[in-house]
Amino acid sequence: MNDRPVRPQRLLILGGTGFVGSHLVPRLAADDHAITLLSRNRERHRDLAVLPRVRILNADPYDRATLTAHLRDADAAINLVGILNETGGARFRRAHVDLTATLVAACREAGVGRLHQMSSLRAGEGRSQYLITRGEAEAVVRASGLAWTIHRPSVIFGPGDGLVSRFAALLRIAPVLPLARPQARLAPVAVADVSEAIARAVADRATTGRAFELYGPETLTLIEIVRAVRDAMGLHRLILPLPDALGRVQARLGEFLPGKPISRDNFLSLLLDSVGREDGLAALGIRARPFLPALPALLHDHGRQARYDAARARAGR
Ligand SMILES: NC(=O)c1ccc[n+]([C@@H]2O[C@H](COP(=O)([O-])OP(=O)(O)OC[C@H]3O[C@@H](n4cnc5c(N)ncnc54)[C@H](OP(=O)(O)O)[C@@H]3O)[C@@H](O)[C@H]2O)c1
Repeated sequence: MNDRPVRPQRLLILGGTGFVGSHLVPRLAADDHAITLLSRNRERHRDLAVLPRVRILNADPYDRATLTAHLRDADAAINLVGILNETGGARFRRAHVDLTATLVAACREAGVGRLHQMSSLRAGEGRSQYLITRGEAEAVVRASGLAWTIHRPSVIFGPGDGLVSRFAALLRIAPVLPLARPQARLAPVAVADVSEAIARAVADRATTGRAFELYGPETLTLIEIVRAVRDAMGLHRLILPLPDALGRVQARLGEFLPGKPISRDNFLSLLLDSVGREDGLAALGIRARPFLPALPALLHDHGRQARYDAARARAGR
C-alpha cells in the first residue's frame, strides 16, 4: 500500500454513530477528511460532533432521495450499518440488503463513485440470516459498478465493544454462566486496527475492488474468551459449556430476555468459525494487535466521552 500523504476527502458515513464509528470517525478526522454522519437520531450521538470537521445530521438512511441529496457533496460513502439481531422492527434484509441497494442507487444518481462497505467474515455462508443477508449486500456492492472496497471483520474488540462488555456484565450478575457454542473459534480484531484498515482504504485507490478479511493474531474458542474475561475481572464463576441441543434451547429463550443476550440466529452464526484465510490487515501494512493482553485495560475503559475529549485536545479544540 502506498505511503503518499493522504488527500482529504468529503466522506458520508451511514451507521457511523455506533461502536466502530466511535473509533473510526476520530481516526478519519485525524487525516483531515470532512465527515458527515447520517443518523436516525443525532441527539443521542452529539458527542461525536465535537471532533474537527465532523457533523452529524438527522436523516432516514432508507430514503433514496435523502441519501442522494447528501451524497451530492461527497467524494465517497462508507456504510457501517449492521444489526446482529432483529429487534424493535429492525430486519436483517432491510438493514443489510435494502439499505445497501438504496445507497448504491443514490451514489450512482449523485455521481459518487467510491463506496466502502462494512461486512463480516463468512458473509454469505451458513444458515444465519445475519450472514446470508451480509453476503447478499456484498453481492449488491460487487455488482454496483462503483469503485468499492469491502471489509470483513471477525468479532471486534475495543472500548465500548459488545464482546467484552457483554460477557463482563453477565459474569458480574451470574454465579454460573451457561455458554452455547463454547468451542466456536473466533479471531478477535482490535477496533483500532479495523479503523486503521478503513482509513487506509479510504486513502488508497489501489484497494478498489478488493475485500479485506480483518482478524486478530489469536484464534480463540468462545469459552477461552469468556474465561479470559472472567479471570481478568478476578471473579470466581463457573462457565458451563452447553452441548448444542441445550445451546439451541438457550438461544430460543435468550430472545425473550432484555437485550437479547443470544438469539437463534446468533447460534446459527456461531456454527461457523469466525476465522479468516487471507490476512487483510497485513495486506494493508497493519500489524494486528492481540486480544488477551488488551483485556485488563478494556475492563477499565473510561468511556466514549473521555476518548473524544482526548481526541479534541489532540486537535487543539
Ligand atoms: N462489532 C463487531 O464485533 C462487528 C463484527 C463484524 C462486523 N461488524 C459490522 O460493523 C458495522 C459497525 O458495527 P458496530 O458494532 O459499530 O454497530 P452498532 O454500534 O450496533 O451500530 C452502528 C450504527 O448503525 C445504525 N443502525 C443500527 N440499527 C439500524 C437499523 N436497523 N437501520 C439503520 N441504521 C441502523 C445506528 O446509527 P443511528 O442510530 O445513528 O442511525 C448505529 O449507531 C456493522 O455493520 C456490523 O455488523 C461489527
